[in-house]
Amino acid sequence: MSFPVTRLRRLRKSPVLRDLVRETVLTRDDLVMPLFVCPGTKVSNPISSMPGNYQMSVDLLVENAKALYDKGLKSVLLFGIPEHKDEHGLVACEHNGIVQKAARALKKEVPGLYLIADVCNCEYTTHGHCGTIVNGDVDNDLTLVTLAKQSVSLAEEGIDMVAPSDMMDGRVGAIRQALDANGFQMTPIMAYSAKYASAFYGPFREAAESTPQFGDRRTYQMDPANSNEALREVALDIEEGADIVMVKPALSYLDIIQKVKTNFNMPVAAYNVSGEFAMVKAAAEKGWIDEKRIVHEILTSIKRAGSDIIITYHAQDVLGDL
Ligand code: PBG
Repeated sequence: MSFPVTRLRRLRKSPVLRDLVRETVLTRDDLVMPLFVCPGTKVSNPISSMPGNYQMSVDLLVENAKALYDKGLKSVLLFGIPEHKDEHGLVACEHNGIVQKAARALKKEVPGLYLIADVCNCEYTTHGHCGTIVNGDVDNDLTLVTLAKQSVSLAEEGIDMVAPSDMMDGRVGAIRQALDANGFQMTPIMAYSAKYASAFYGPFREAAESTPQFGDRRTYQMDPANSNEALREVALDIEEGADIVMVKPALSYLDIIQKVKTNFNMPVAAYNVSGEFAMVKAAAEKGWIDEKRIVHEILTSIKRAGSDIIITYHAQDVLGDL
C-alpha cells in the first residue's frame, strides 16, 4: 500500500504516538561509567580533554561512585594509574595494586555497584605498551601470563567482571583458564574483541598516562579499514570463552556493532571512547551544539546499532534524564 493510503507521518502526530512506536529506548541499565583511580588521598586531578572526568584517589573515587550509584548508576569500569610502573606491568597484579585497593573500598562502601576492571598492561608499563616488549614489539605469549595474573588478582579483591583490552591473541582463553583454576568460574569476561588502532583514544591516554613511549599499537590493535577481521576476532573470543564481546570505538564503527550483533547470538558492548566524548564536550563548550540532545541521539544510535551495553563517559551526565 502506498500513498495516499499509507502516510508514515500518521504515527508521528503526537508525543504519545511517538512514544508508543519507539523502537529503541535508552535506559540506565545499559550504561557503564569508566572511572580513573590514582594514588594518594583527597586527590582529584581534572582530565583537561575530558571535562567532568578526574583521576581520583580511592577515598574520592568511593565518594563519587556512591553519588552516582545513588543517582541510579549500576556499573563502573575501573582504570588504574599506579604509583610506579615496571617493564612488564607486574604492578597491576599486586594485592595492593591501585585497582585492587579501589575494588576493596568500593565493595565495602558501595556494595551494590557492579565492578568491571579493564585488564591491560599499558597503564602499568614504563614503555606504555599493552604487554611485554621483546625485540621492539609486544610479545604475545609472554603477555598472556601477566594478563592472566592480573585478572585473578582483580577477582580476588572483589572485581565482578574482567575486561581485557590488550588485543593479544589467545588472551580470553588464558584468562578463563586462570580464573577457573583459582575458583572464579563465575567471573564473566567482557572481551574488547574488535578493538581498533584508533586516534579516538587520544584523551584517554592523558587520563590513564598510558601513551606508548615509542611506536604505536598497530601491531596488536585492528586496522580501522577492516570488518571481516573484526568478525574473526569476535568468533575466536567466543570460542575461547568470552561472555560479552565489545566493539571499540563506537561511533565510527556502528557497522561493526551491527554485524557482530547479527552474526553472533551474544551480548554486545560498545565503548563510546574518550575522543568521541571530547568532541561533543568541545563543541558544546563553544555553544555550537545542544549537548543533551546530541548525547541522547549518540547513545541511542549505539543501542539501535545492536549494542546491549554502552560504556560511556556521558553516563554520569545522562543518568538523571533516563
Ligand atoms: C587500554 C585501553 C585504552 C582504552 C581503553 N583501554 C587505550 C588504548 O588502547 O590506547 C581507550 C578508552 C578511551 O579512549 O576512552 N589498552
